[in-house]
Amino acid sequence: MKNTKSPFYILGVETSCDETAVSVIRATGKNIEVLSNTVSSQVKLHARWGGVVPNLAAREHLKNILPVLSLSLSRAQVGFKDIALLCVTNGPGLIPALLIGTNTAKTLAYLLQKPLLGIHHIEGHIYANFIFDKIGKSSKSLPRRQAGKAQSLKFPILCLVVSGGHTQLVLMKKHLDYEIVGQTLDDAAGEAFDKVARILKLGYPGGPAIAEAAMKFKVQSSKFKVSLPRPMLNSKNLDFSFSGLKTAVLYTVKKHSNILKNVRMSSQLCAEFQQAVIDVLIHKTLKAAEIYKPKAIMLAGGVSANIELRNQLRNNLRKYYPDIIYKIPDTKYSIDNAAMIAAAGYFRWKNMSDSQKKKTLTNWQKLQTDANLKL
Ligand code: KG4
Ligand code: ZN
Repeated sequence: MKNTKSPFYILGVETSCDETAVSVIRATGKNIEVLSNTVSSQVKLHARWGGVVPNLAAREHLKNILPVLSLSLSRAQVGFKDIALLCVTNGPGLIPALLIGTNTAKTLAYLLQKPLLGIHHIEGHIYANFIFDKIGKSSKSLPRRQAGKAQSLKFPILCLVVSGGHTQLVLMKKHLDYEIVGQTLDDAAGEAFDKVARILKLGYPGGPAIAEAAMKFKVQSSKFKVSLPRPMLNSKNLDFSFSGLKTAVLYTVKKHSNILKNVRMSSQLCAEFQQAVIDVLIHKTLKAAEIYKPKAIMLAGGVSANIELRNQLRNNLRKYYPDIIYKIPDTKYSIDNAAMIAAAGYFRWKNMSDSQKKKTLTNWQKLQTDANLKL
């Protein structure tokens, strides 16, 4: 891969779900510096519906995309003329939402005559681990001697991708090369957090609400005992299933109707649910490590913001695989953002031949959105 020595400014745009996000990054050689990372969240708007309403999301993206773009450029202190590459999420996601970001990026590419790349949302989440910048040191989990050298991570790398729409174990033998070695057969981990939070009337998004409730739980102070299944823990493959776990929570609530009014009981149920998800995620990740012998393990996606998951996976790796480097993104790059889209775009760009790069100048005409885009 050729290194770009002079600063290369990339504008990233992300509107696949309920965050309108624009970021400017500056890539110099192997360093990716985030100059701005502007996110306008629609969480409050969708909370009353208990989930994201696609057309409402599109309306909000349309309202916010230009102010977010303008703010992000001014925070980065760069103008359109400085931008060398435009990157936008073109799937997977909600089509009405994706269209606002892709059409904005296509319009800019046409007007500015700049190259444009469509980026897979999950590829963005994975490449959040390759951001090392001044406004967020993503290499917290690395030993001191490796901090700041995310790009020198050695392959193969195993990624545990956990978001609202995906739960996958992805093996990377090199940059931009993905093999899905395990995945959920039904609900994604984040989706399970959101559905359980809805059952327990904890609001949306469910992940942070459940994590917070689980923290309140103290074993000693509660008589209510609950135990939930660990679905597919002992299955031979690396796949997951979380829909039965959500149903088990529903049955528990039906059996003990006072749970909803009793903070102690509901926080215990949250702690047990969170632990059940974490147990399965960690078990399968360790199993994949045993099979594929990765040099590094990375966490990616919104659920990777979960502190218990981060800490418990780190402790397990220290115990069973102390030689494997463990990498987690800074929390602001775990949840949806556009810096990760720009970062993934930089690696794609570096990997392209001159003629491939030239073709990206006409992407303003050709780029399509795809709700089910494959990695
Ligand atoms: O990656 P993301 O921001 O959007 C998608 O690509 O889906 O992930 C959103 C998901 C939601 O399901 C949300 O509940 C979950 O990530 N999430 C968490 C936490 N923060 C966000 N789940 C568990 N613990 C958290 N702290
Ligand atoms: Zn995401």
